[in-house]
Amino acid sequence: MEYTPIVIDHFTNPRNMGELKDANGIGEVGNTRCGDVMKMYVKIEDDVICDVKFKTFGCVAAIASSSMATTMIKGKKISDALKIKNQDVLKALGGLPAIKIHCSVLAEEAIKSAISDYYVRLGVDPVPIVGKIVSQV
Ligand code: FES
Repeated sequence: MEYTPIVIDHFTNPRNMGELKDANGIGEVGNTRCGDVMKMYVKIEDDVICDVKFKTFGCVAAIASSSMATTMIKGKKISDALKIKNQDVLKALGGLPAIKIHCSVLAEEAIKSAISDYYVRLGVDPVPIVGKIVSQV
């Protein structure tokens, strides 16, 4: 399977790329096998993700997945953002080659990691809300 036009579009024209200066949650995840790293910044107000940006050092699929993931959580309530699974990112991208599925997992975990950091900053244990994040760095 080759990359879908949606994947190519998000890779060549990534949405919400960069850093968020006033982020109140920053997550970082990585895959030790491929060495790709994904950083996600969120600004949360009243339980809503008002803004989000990402920086990904990784493959085409990792960049497209993180770009797509940011569009899927922007403006969403935390509880809804946490419902987004890698399968949802995959579906939105029109699929990924089998060996690239883990790139979408990284995007799901980057969202969780950023939200998790938001709770840590508030002094709240994130694990009961966000769950365990396997690829957090
Ligand atoms: Fe590892 Fe894409 S090859 S994140």
